[in-house]
Amino acid sequence: RGAPPTVVVIFGASGDLTARKLIPAVYNLACDSLLPADFYLVGYGRKAIPDEEFRDIAAKAIREFSRREFDPAVWQSIRQNVSYVAGDYDEPEAFRRLAGHISGIEKKISREMQSLFYISTPPTVFAPILKNLGASGLASKYLGKPHHAKVVIEKPFGRDLASALELNATIRSVFEEHQVYRIDHYLGKETVQDLLVQRFGNAIFEPLWNRNFIDHVQITVAEEVGVGTRGGYYETSGALRDMIQNHTMQLVALTAMEPPVSLSAEDVRDEKVKVLKAIQPLRLGPGGDTARAQYTSGMIGGKQVPGYLDEPGIDKNSSTETHAAIRLSINNWRWQGVPFYLRSGKRMPHRVSEIAIQFKRPPGTLFSDSALYNIAPNTLAFQIQPDEGLGLILNGKVPGLETRTQPVKMNFRYSTTFGSNTPEAYERLVLDAMVGDGTLFIRGDEAEASWKLYTPVLENWAEAGHEGLDTYDAGTWGPKSAEALIAQTRDAWRKP
Ligand code: BG6
Repeated sequence: RGAPPTVVVIFGASGDLTARKLIPAVYNLACDSLLPADFYLVGYGRKAIPDEEFRDIAAKAIREFSRREFDPAVWQSIRQNVSYVAGDYDEPEAFRRLAGHISGIEKKISREMQSLFYISTPPTVFAPILKNLGASGLASKYLGKPHHAKVVIEKPFGRDLASALELNATIRSVFEEHQVYRIDHYLGKETVQDLLVQRFGNAIFEPLWNRNFIDHVQITVAEEVGVGTRGGYYETSGALRDMIQNHTMQLVALTAMEPPVSLSAEDVRDEKVKVLKAIQPLRLGPGGDTARAQYTSGMIGGKQVPGYLDEPGIDKNSSTETHAAIRLSINNWRWQGVPFYLRSGKRMPHRVSEIAIQFKRPPGTLFSDSALYNIAPNTLAFQIQPDEGLGLILNGKVPGLETRTQPVKMNFRYSTTFGSNTPEAYERLVLDAMVGDGTLFIRGDEAEASWKLYTPVLENWAEAGHEGLDTYDAGTWGPKSAEALIAQTRDAWRKP
């Protein structure tokens, strides 16, 4: 999977994501000899930074955030090809300078290069960057050839349906859809990709993967961290926009979609869009399909932590939710009547993401004496993180002279089978974008389908303000309202 000679331009070069994820990802690809032989990295930002200083910043980011030890030889192999261009995002002249900078690199090595524009900025400057990429001719560079320009965009892809449509229109006025790589880093996680392999690479699951055998599905994306220093951003977002609408819905789509015709980007994304479109509008208000809450102070890891309203940058009267729970009904042949329960929150007891498939109970004809038999429904749980793996809960006989049963667990652990040095999500995604494989990226219509579902909820919550906003103590598994949501028709949330 070789990429052509490539120049990666990062907009937002002095941002947090660049240091924590993007530069370390490039470095790790270099360690694995996965970068093209001609590889150049250009940082772009408002602040004037000399090339040498940007190289030092990059080296520091690698030392601090790379999953591998810093290897001076590897760094030397890319160091000279790292440079920096300073400019505003709405300044056409600066984009002409950038175009000149890229042409200069091409002249130096006497080759045409693919440009990969990585937009890692706040969404307020998405539109000016896109428009300037168009006006400067950079967006259409080598269009029609395999090494045409590409653009990678970080979330948020809008903040409701109207803004998502507007962003997509801006993108499409400059780039063709096949040039666009909208990132959802959950798709870069090994376990998320494994979901497709487990479903479609094994014969035993797919026959059971439907309303005849599955009772319901629970998806939990729990974080131990609070909002930390990101209060300003989080106030404009909340759990629904930050986690549910994007990451969690990707897990829903991969769990629920039909087998794609092939693993090509279009075939996989066609199936994801189809299933997103089959989800019924959510019922709003009390007794409906949604619950939201905010954390109050509590104990995490034996330490007292502040409540959301006492975090830096948070409005004392904020009604932003830090936990959201949702019930989805997918109205298609496979899933009708099988609720999908989703929840995501900050300041939960520990960081864990899992997809749990809860099968129907076996008939209670033989093992029904509750004093002896503990017959639980079978559960297949995909642990996305941190302890990556797959567990199947079965009922087994407890050894002894009388027949007693107990749920037992069969476990597959990535770290035991494969060791623990798996690539970071961003390594896979940056490489895929360079190679031109869009399978693990969000297509415009996918983002729109998800926003269409959640926009009425967001509007309803904004209107209701504090009314209906529940609370939960930091360090607990979420609010009573989320328990009540599942208890309406099913038992309870699993303790992952
Ligand atoms: C980001 C959210 O997209 O995902 C953060 O903005 C969140 O709020 C993060 O913490 C979680 O990612 P991960 O990979 O740590 O589960």
